[in-house]
Amino acid sequence: NEGSLWGGRFSGGPADAMAALSKSTHFDWRLASYDIAGSRAHAKVLHRAGLLTEQELEDMIAALDQLESDVLDKTYVAAESDEDVHGSLERGLIERAGAHLGGKLRAGRSRNDQIATLGRMFLRDHARIIAGGVLDTIDALLEQAKAHPYAPMPGRTHLQHAQPILLSHLLLAYAWPLLRDVQRFVDWDKRAAVSPYGSGALAGQTLGLDPNFVAAELGFDSAVFNSIDGTAARDVFAEFAWISSMIGVDLSRVSEEIILWATKEFSFVKLHDAFSTGSSIMPQKKNPDIAELARGKAGRLIGDLTGLLATLKALPLAYNRDLQEDKEPVFDAADTLEILLPAVAGMIQTLTFNTERMADLAPQGFALATDIAEWLVRQGVPFRDAHELSGAAVQLAESRGVELWDLSDADYAGISEHLTPAVREVLSTEGSLNARNGQGGTAPSAVEQQITEFERQLDAV
Ligand code: ARG
Repeated sequence: NEGSLWGGRFSGGPADAMAALSKSTHFDWRLASYDIAGSRAHAKVLHRAGLLTEQELEDMIAALDQLESDVLDKTYVAAESDEDVHGSLERGLIERAGAHLGGKLRAGRSRNDQIATLGRMFLRDHARIIAGGVLDTIDALLEQAKAHPYAPMPGRTHLQHAQPILLSHLLLAYAWPLLRDVQRFVDWDKRAAVSPYGSGALAGQTLGLDPNFVAAELGFDSAVFNSIDGTAARDVFAEFAWISSMIGVDLSRVSEEIILWATKEFSFVKLHDAFSTGSSIMPQKKNPDIAELARGKAGRLIGDLTGLLATLKALPLAYNRDLQEDKEPVFDAADTLEILLPAVAGMIQTLTFNTERMADLAPQGFALATDIAEWLVRQGVPFRDAHELSGAAVQLAESRGVELWDLSDADYAGISEHLTPAVREVLSTEGSLNARNGQGGTAPSAVEQQITEFERQLDAV
């Protein structure tokens, strides 16, 4: 049983089937640098507790440095017989530091507190990378919004024409949730910045090691206050997976709209050649594959989250081997977003909008009917009556196959004495947009204020 982490009470090595099932080096090897960083910190805390001499600490750090450079240039790789990254790196350390010194490092720690700590280190680094990708996507939306300060378009509810809006207003409506996703990662990091190292297998350690020293060495704010929680909790992993899923869903929603906009029927946008694909058979095709992949990968991210939650559900405390299943979902979530975000940001940044067509369609489909009703309210008509009168105008226009502004003064007067020719001031896209000038509205002045506030919050993250 040579090279194994246990042996004393075993009379032989594991069956091939046991070893094959148990093995995690094919996915946890990417934690190797974090494992070695943890080992350096642990060596120092053993030294502080008087369990390693000055010379032993120096030799240990040198061996760990050598091991890390061998891992990085792949002269040291996991062996077929290694179960996980921790065991393999202990074997590598012993090869470099000798069995006597190398055998001292495992004192006062367990793979249970190690893996819980390394996972948090990995996730904290990747949360920053993902947040950077989200910020680039936000920038692309914001730049497009600023490049089109006055571009009216149809605003939709139920996918039907509802009221005219500004394109910049809609683009920002896709940017706000993404900004909140970045804020969520910032907030999440407070919970992730707590180190489980020092929890041991579950109950803590007897060697007088200072877990807060290790925490600080590894960039954490503090150590956990409960060793069972430290080794068995994975809510911080699940929250990371949830934020990742939410980002996927947020990207999927804007992607769906872009897919619609790029159809012949909408013709609202043209995709850049570099951010679209062709067809192997139909020469004319230009496909929104990035947006479709974003939609598809949102489903995959949701799967990562639900898979992890299913692993955690009803798992008794403390560590159980089920927890080895915690890593692949969060690794996959990080990998998925890190490859998706730059493509989505590039697609949005390079969209060309057909603002003329969007503006033409903005008031169509009786999208100004609410404006007539609210204009009547300003003349003192109760809203219930105003709604009826505006509805009558819609019915008349629809029966003639014309738009609201095509009805004559006499037509309006025939519907109600309140509908004087002055109502025409709201019977234009411009009038409709300008009237919605309260905070959060779609008037150009309100959107300008919105951009100021958005940029303030963006600068603050
Ligand atoms: N490979 C294990 C995991 O990912 C490390 C912890 C193993 N602990 C144990 N008691 N078998 O969870």
